Amino acid sequence: MKRIGMLTSGGDCQALNAAMRGVVKCLSYSKEDVEIYGFLDGYRGLIYSDFRMLTGADFSGILTKGGTILGTSRTPFKLIREPDENGLDKVEAMKQNYYKLKLDCLVILGGNGTHKTANLLRQEGLNVVTLPKTIDNDLWGTDMTFGFQSAIDIATDAIDCIHTTAASHGRVFIVEVMGHKVGWLTLNAGMAGGADIILIPEIPYDIDKVVEAIETRQKRGSRFTILAVAEGAISKQDAKLSKKEYKEKLKNTPYPSVSYEIAAQIQKKTGQEVRVTVPGHTQRGGSPCPYDRVFASRLGSEAGKMILKGEYGFMVGYRNREIVKVPLEEVAGKLKMVAPDATIVKEAKMLGISFGD
Ligand code: F6P
Repeated sequence: MKRIGMLTSGGDCQALNAAMRGVVKCLSYSKEDVEIYGFLDGYRGLIYSDFRMLTGADFSGILTKGGTILGTSRTPFKLIREPDENGLDKVEAMKQNYYKLKLDCLVILGGNGTHKTANLLRQEGLNVVTLPKTIDNDLWGTDMTFGFQSAIDIATDAIDCIHTTAASHGRVFIVEVMGHKVGWLTLNAGMAGGADIILIPEIPYDIDKVVEAIETRQKRGSRFTILAVAEGAISKQDAKLSKKEYKEKLKNTPYPSVSYEIAAQIQKKTGQEVRVTVPGHTQRGGSPCPYDRVFASRLGSEAGKMILKGEYGFMVGYRNREIVKVPLEEVAGKLKMVAPDATIVKEAKMLGISFGD
């Protein structure tokens, strides 16, 4: 008999359900008896012993369903060692609940923050297997996370829609793409949507270079320009600020996000109309794309296989087109960013895309 606790933590994304289904299908297919304890709303459920017993039926029909059947929440790692408002030691509570339910392991689906806590639980002696989810694709140790490809599709669709209206009106348009502190999503959606300018956090921009790229297009006869701007994009000037100074700037800025600041600057420097579109959380919503359904199912079934063999302390990752086991201590606390000199960036530049650098 295997007793497995499962939880999804952090921002949701497409294919969380597909991944969990993959784990459970693989386990059900084996001869092993399995009990699944689904903790609700991420680590919160494990801390406060809020769980549901799940059966195979709970995982039926969810391959194509977005979101997570377990619910999720953010439990910031920097607060995990701090007692809650009633003085409860959260780490101790998670351990107690794990032992009380006599769990063999936890299956944890999450991104960066989630992996720091998962690694902490491993260090505390719990058996943990993790699966890499996030639309940001910024998780260390895996070339790909599930949710990423689905989000690319949605962000690309947004840019595609903007294309026709931008062309009709002859306007400059900014589409702001999610991705937190990294540019993977913007880079891929920008290239897929034929953006003329792509601004990502890893390559700080110079607003004059951005304006120059717009004007060069116009001189060549283009009536419109589309910028794909990462929500974490940063100017060369701001990149020189200390973390504290930059935080202070963001606190006092009149703009809701970096795209609006860029739009105002372009408008001022060129006198042209600039419009901003923010697809926001739609990028995390809806059904997983077919790629993510397959990818998450594969990762899930490999996690199931690892559980059957009793192999714990790993994230199931994907490197060089192979599913691999990545030790959690290698994953936790590191960010996978776009290298400014990455081949894909060079290729984008060869296509004439400006990065404003
Ligand atoms: O990590 C996924 C993500 O969607 C980021 O791209 C974005 O910055 C963040 O989550 C938004 O978080 P929230 O859903 O808490 O607003």
